Amino acid sequence: MMLGVVASANAAEVLGTVSSPDHSLSVEVQLEDGGRLAYSVQRRGKPLIAPSHLGFLLTNAPQLDNGFTLARQAVSSHDDTWEQPWGERRYVRNHYQELRLELVQKALDNRRLALVFRVFDDGVGFRYEFPDQQQLPVAQISDELTEFVVAPPSTAWWQEAGEKAALEYATRKTPLAEVGTANTPLTIRTQDGTHIAFHEAALVDYASMWLRKVEGQTLRAHLTPSAFGPPVERRGAFTTPWRTMQIADDAAGLYMSDLVLNLNEPNKLGDVSWVKPSKFVGVWWEMHLERSTWGSGAKHGATTANTRRYIDFAARNGFRGVLVEGWNLGWDGNWSGSGSSFSFTQSYPDFDLPALSAYAQQKGVRLIGHHETGGNIARYEQQMDAGYQLYAKLGVDSIKSGYVTDGGAAIFPSAGGGTHFGYTDSQEGVRHYLKAVTEAARYKLAIDTHEPVKDTGLRRTYPNWISREGARGMEYNAWGNPINSVDHEVNLVFTRMLSGPMDYTPGILSLEGVKGRPINSTQAKQLASFVVIYSPVVMAADLIENYEKYPGPFKFIKDVPTDWADTRVLHGSLGEYVTIARKDRRSEDWYVGSITDGQARTLPLSLDFLDAGKRYTAEIYRDGDQADYRSSHRFDIVIEKQTVTAKTVLQLKLAPGGGQAIRFTPL
Ligand code: NOJ
Ligand code: CA
Repeated sequence: MMLGVVASANAAEVLGTVSSPDHSLSVEVQLEDGGRLAYSVQRRGKPLIAPSHLGFLLTNAPQLDNGFTLARQAVSSHDDTWEQPWGERRYVRNHYQELRLELVQKALDNRRLALVFRVFDDGVGFRYEFPDQQQLPVAQISDELTEFVVAPPSTAWWQEAGEKAALEYATRKTPLAEVGTANTPLTIRTQDGTHIAFHEAALVDYASMWLRKVEGQTLRAHLTPSAFGPPVERRGAFTTPWRTMQIADDAAGLYMSDLVLNLNEPNKLGDVSWVKPSKFVGVWWEMHLERSTWGSGAKHGATTANTRRYIDFAARNGFRGVLVEGWNLGWDGNWSGSGSSFSFTQSYPDFDLPALSAYAQQKGVRLIGHHETGGNIARYEQQMDAGYQLYAKLGVDSIKSGYVTDGGAAIFPSAGGGTHFGYTDSQEGVRHYLKAVTEAARYKLAIDTHEPVKDTGLRRTYPNWISREGARGMEYNAWGNPINSVDHEVNLVFTRMLSGPMDYTPGILSLEGVKGRPINSTQAKQLASFVVIYSPVVMAADLIENYEKYPGPFKFIKDVPTDWADTRVLHGSLGEYVTIARKDRRSEDWYVGSITDGQARTLPLSLDFLDAGKRYTAEIYRDGDQADYRSSHRFDIVIEKQTVTAKTVLQLKLAPGGGQAIRFTPL
């Protein structure tokens, strides 16, 4: 079914076409009657994105979507390979053909706008370029009219946008036509099996893009509202973020795509050897379990004695970091959505920050800083520099930040003094998060943002933006209401994880939240999550006593690295299962993680990614034969060794809600 697009296509004048290097994808840009801009995408000769409108509505000038004529067009190609300081793979190929169109609106005094399309073998990115011009010195954008008219009937996996819990909704699976307002990445599977993930790249000084279903299978950009007027206001020349479509034959192909990173600017920080991918433990899960508190009192978690216990445990077990939350003044009373008492420099009296950071370093461990703002960006910006300075002085080289508040209720500084409320993913929110990262870089601090703006690949440009949350994390398995569903992690891999690393905090070997409520997982699945859910900084989140209780599975958590030379997705089906193999950056070891939803599955695992000439020991952590996330058998795990080669085919037997983790070491 083609959704009523043929007529407009007939009337259109073609301005330019460009195809991917392998010719599988082609983009055509058209002017419809009235000089209205549109583009379409074909894959292997079939319509994938039917003619879809482009342009803007402005509040300070006539609309920027019609009356265009073409002034100039150019096609060029690009092919290079760049190196990541850390990542899922070391080398990334950036190979595309570009179409650049310069357009004018003659009736508006030759007002100009340029459009740039980059077409890769694995998808399409395009953006608008606003030149510096007296016809539009300031662009006040009330609406971006960019559309994605999906031609074949499709199913969508998506998370709501613009609601109370910001980015922390469970994934919904609906016909594309039933999407409401979605965050990106929004992933679809068309009737013939083609997969597309819609997202954006290089979100800088612009409002985050939500996608709203407007009619049929048409998605339209919906810019996060501003607290005052138009969602975006820019002066002089600027470019919008890239609007992206990763396109593949299967879910695995989506995850293998580096398109979003490729559309970001190269590293602007120079030497970033001070950014350290690593694992950490933390004074954390105990608060989420309500065994201790962030605030002061008899149950205060961040005491000197308790932190020393974690430092000792980290040192004994090879963890580089110890996160401590609740160390600073301001946690007493209602901090969430207010943050009005937080100090970023003063500790509670029972927490000796200088002594603990010295004690940690003496043991080869670093404290990981914590800046919870309660969404009070105004207050944070007043103290951020002092907070960074303090940590840097004490040898703390990474900070987890947090912005716990309701969607739309973050507190921003107003220009003339005072404050106002707004969305964290508004243009001013986008500016704040990046400022927090670039200021941190001046102190050689890496930032792991919780309740962040979504990831759009800026880690390429600012590699100290080392991770972020930005989806429902493990914490929901502590609190409930509800806990994460059994398919949550497999859903994340092909939606949220397409945008970049996530600080998910895996590794709850106790498999329980508050008051012993079981979580939807087997033990083997907890281990597999360390491989499947990528982040260069990973918290082994469980309590010390639980790691001590399960030394067998804990060994995998100690062994698994967080920085990779290569990544391959070996199996993947949206919302059902995924298997990922990753090669360690610092050894010849490979690691595999495989997870499933509520269905038991047996997946054949060909080891042809291993070096052909070598024999390897496979240390296998698999679901026991009785394992099932719905019963006490969720703890059934078998740990065994086997000698394998690249020719071996293993059978991954995954229990309902289960998984499997394997370490391969050359003999
Ligand atoms: C929410 C974060 O996601 C969580 O990790 C943290 O413990 C709390 N906020 C408190 O800052
Ligand atoms: Ca959170």
